[in-house]
Formats: sequence, C-alpha cells, structure tokens
Amino acid sequence: MKPIIAPSLLSADFAYLAKDIEMVNKSEADWLHIDIMDGVFVPNISFGFPVLKYVAELTEKPLDVHLMIVNPEKFIPEVKALGVHTMNVHFEACTHLHRVVQQIRDAGMHPAVTLNPATPVVLLKDIIKDLYMVLLMSVNPGFGGQKFIEHTVEKVRELRQLIDSTGAQTLIEVDGGVNLETGYKLVEAGADALVAGNSVFGAANPQGMIHQLKNL
Ligand code: DX5
Ligand code: ZN
Repeated sequence: MKPIIAPSLLSADFAYLAKDIEMVNKSEADWLHIDIMDGVFVPNISFGFPVLKYVAELTEKPLDVHLMIVNPEKFIPEVKALGVHTMNVHFEACTHLHRVVQQIRDAGMHPAVTLNPATPVVLLKDIIKDLYMVLLMSVNPGFGGQKFIEHTVEKVRELRQLIDSTGAQTLIEVDGGVNLETGYKLVEAGADALVAGNSVFGAANPQGMIHQLKNL
C-alpha cells in the first residue's frame, strides 16, 4: 500500500500561499496538513481561522488539521466550518480525551489523537478503537525543519502491534523530520501516513518530492 502523503503548510511560502496550495493541488499529495499553534501549548504561533478560511477555499485536498493548542475542544465549530476531514488533538492537551474524541466525531469529522515524543503509545490502549488515526510526533511540536527522533520508528512498531491486536482500523501518521530516508523506515515499520514540511517545500522540485515520498 502506498503511504498517504500530507504536505505541511507550515513550511510553505506565506507570502505566496495560493501558489504553494496550487502546487499541492496539482501533486499526488493525499491531504493538506495544517498546523495551528497558540503560543501556550507550544512555543510558537502559526496561523488562525481568518487565514485558514482562504486556505480551505483554495485547496482541493482534504484538510488534516493538527491543533497544537490548549483546550482544542473549544474550537470544534470553527474547525468544522473549514470543512475539515481529520481533526488532530494532542493527548497532552486534553484532560477528558474520550469526551473530546466523541465531540469531534459528533461534529462529523474524523477524530485523531497526537502524541508528543515523550508520551508512550500504550496510553491510548483504552480508546484506540474510537480513533480514526494516531499522529506520532517525531519532533517536539512547534517548528518545521527539526531533526527526526529515531525512536519514533520503534513507536510506530508498538502502535502497529496495539492496533492489530485489538482489531482496530486506526491509521498511523507521523509528523516531523520526514524525508525519503526517515519516511522509508517509517513505512516499513507500519506507518500509513506521512506529514512532510521542509522536505517538500524546501525541495528544488516539490511535486517531484511528493511523488518520491508516495512511492517509497
Ligand atoms: C511541527 C509540525 C509539523 C511541521 C513538520 O510542530 O507539527 O507539521 O510542519 O515540518 P518538517 O517536516 O519540516 O519537520
Ligand atoms: Zn503537524
């Protein structure tokens, strides 16, 4: 099975967003990954709903939204209004994670839970069947262009085992430092979806890079 490829808009040229979204539209990418940061959960601020309204209008790819914010449930209506496919919330940001997952599903979106590098996979055991996807961070969230944390490959294997042993259909996505080399290892370990920021938008031929990632 070919991996799902989700270019991360965080690494696009913000002065020419429409041009970069058009590039993704024409490419073999499956989803467009959107990173929302609040300066509280992570030490950075990216973009908010006024900007994303235009991104959502321009993209032809389903939106994979990654909320790096505290109390993400407060924004379920705003995220839904963008026409979002998958809403990722951080395990570390939700005290009542089970409730948030149900709220996302009830709003008509696919619920996904994101784990920081220091959060073990086993903590999702009791809700794994309720999740459309688990997003494993392979860098500490907040910035593009960081170095891949190698231990993530082992976490993908563990998560694959958990999913298969429970009969769940949950997808595994990985985000941070994904390139052709790390992407190959992740797919081999059982990852279904790869987020790629710098490796795509920093490439001389971004569409060609998406093609190569798709054919790892
Ligand atoms: C980091 C974000 C990532 C980021 C990935 O907090 O969640 O989606 O854009 O960028 P690269 O692929 O450059 O590590
Ligand atoms: Zn992300």
